[in-house]
Amino acid sequence: MQQRTLLTNINGLQGEIAVPGDKSVSHRAVMFGAIADGKTTIHNFLPGEDCLSTIDCFQKMGVSIVQKGEYVEVEGKGISGLEEPSEILNVGNSGTTTRLILGILSGIPFHTCLIGDDSIAKRPMGRVTVPLRSMGAKIDGRQDGQYTPLSTRGGALKGIHYHSPVASAQVKSAILLAGLSAEGKTTVTEPEKSRDHTERMLQAFGVQVDVDGNTVSIEGGQQLKSATIHVPGDISSAAFFLVAGAIVPNSRIELKNVGLNPTRTGIIDVLKEMGANLEIKNEQIRNGEPVGDLVISTSQLKGIEISGDIIPRLIDEIPVIALLATQAEGKTIIKDAAELKVKETNRIDTVATELEKMGARITPTEDGMIIEGRSSLHGAVVHSHGDHRIGMMLAVAACIAKGDMSLQNEQAIAVSYPSFFEHMENLTIKK
Ligand code: S3P
Repeated sequence: MQQRTLLTNINGLQGEIAVPGDKSVSHRAVMFGAIADGKTTIHNFLPGEDCLSTIDCFQKMGVSIVQKGEYVEVEGKGISGLEEPSEILNVGNSGTTTRLILGILSGIPFHTCLIGDDSIAKRPMGRVTVPLRSMGAKIDGRQDGQYTPLSTRGGALKGIHYHSPVASAQVKSAILLAGLSAEGKTTVTEPEKSRDHTERMLQAFGVQVDVDGNTVSIEGGQQLKSATIHVPGDISSAAFFLVAGAIVPNSRIELKNVGLNPTRTGIIDVLKEMGANLEIKNEQIRNGEPVGDLVISTSQLKGIEISGDIIPRLIDEIPVIALLATQAEGKTIIKDAAELKVKETNRIDTVATELEKMGARITPTEDGMIIEGRSSLHGAVVHSHGDHRIGMMLAVAACIAKGDMSLQNEQAIAVSYPSFFEHMENLTIKK
């Protein structure tokens, strides 16, 4: 386990960065390219460990994929061009890889075996294996297919109308991808709208997708045609610098080419409601996805309540929003976010445990947390728990902490943001 000394109590963060490509979009670009007909090219791909796991899984199914940094070429031969892998498919730490691949494999008659790391082994897979089986997929696995390791042998699928109990893009996407191989129409209805990159990108690959509020439908038997994908910057990665820019005195950060898909911009709404100095510039649409530049500077913040249908729009940002709330006047209440318990770690517990070590006042609840602001934070020996977003949140917290600080298991950050510390250093004004 690697440990890193973090820079504390810095003099400000100033400058301009382009955050890496969006993780959700990068996964989908590789997957859809792999099952499309012809060559797909991907620009500004995120070469983080999670997306590399997706590439590796499809290479093991015979797809030729060449990745050079942020540029990727995928030679798709259609979904029937995938080959039975002679090795186990290792999804690493990636929930998106696991769940979306299960959807694709559901309609393919060959055998696969899927494993991942210790965190993946704890994450609920029944939320996809149960509906996929009801479509006709043969999936087995630990505890009757609730957890990895999982094995698949596809099947002749029939379209379903699935009413998902959770707002989850991974569940929705798995079922829609299975729907491509199913007879008839497949429909998913969610309680709240989750991120819609699958719907948008399938259309870029020539598939007809019907969206009506929180309901999405797809007709089976549609073939994907190759595409050129420009991946927008990941707003979930930008979130760490948005919060850093708001809470570190003497800061002004410009973040270029950030994805502004409305199903992802909850963090912007929260920052504005808390009173942050945030400006959006150069908004445009690329590949069916809105992008723009964000400028954040040091802000006076106030506590707010965050609950209801905004939660899926900022679910991955809650660890860093919790940190933001420690620097706001008054109380911030986060509710309706029980999904945090089944992320890379139980993020209600890991956020509270680690920030409390630094002097934050956080009360974990069943479906969120209550944060009392403002707290002055002090250095501590903190731990990522193997969760990239916990690691980055703590590195941002260090910027305003007094005293020495180190982060254990810092390598987890490479899952979604391999250049995080380089960007942090480039922006830092040291004392
Ligand atoms: C993702 C969906 C979200 C998110 C995850 C990526 C995706 O998970 O937390 O980081 O790419 O579809 P859920 O679908 O489980 O909410």
